Amino acid sequence: MRIAIGADHGGFELKESIKKHLEEVGGYEITDYGTYTSESVDYAAIAYKVGTAVTEEKILGILCCGTGIGISMAANKVKGVRAACCSDYFSAKLTRAHNDANILCLGGRVVGAGLANELVDIFLNTEFEGGRHQRRIDQISAIENGEF
Ligand code: RB5
Repeated sequence: MRIAIGADHGGFELKESIKKHLEEVGGYEITDYGTYTSESVDYAAIAYKVGTAVTEEKILGILCCGTGIGISMAANKVKGVRAACCSDYFSAKLTRAHNDANILCLGGRVVGAGLANELVDIFLNTEFEGGRHQRRIDQISAIENGEF
């Protein structure tokens, strides 16, 4: 499975830890869109790069910043992105199953490495259920396209 990953300085360490985890699990081809050091950077550029990769390549993505919030807001401005900031297992599962989220956002200053790995695993291994949820996703797209 191909994955796009990125973080600002607030999520840098968590991103590195998630990459290590996914490499240990195996079966993932990860493209890292930065940042590559703990030096301060603005999260919008990283969100844009990962968001664009996710929509163009129809893959899943992971974004980390300090809270997971700013980077999720920025990613959700990319057309076709449904980014969800999660810090609990139930939300990480249901945002795939019901919202067809294509990017999981995590806060490096909110969740620890162990919980983050669990959230990533459930997110990447849960399928969208479709059905009534598809209608709601279509409505989100209609808002995005100014057709609601
Ligand atoms: C950076 O200090 C911090 O504001 C950022 O990582 C994130 O938490 C924003 O939502």
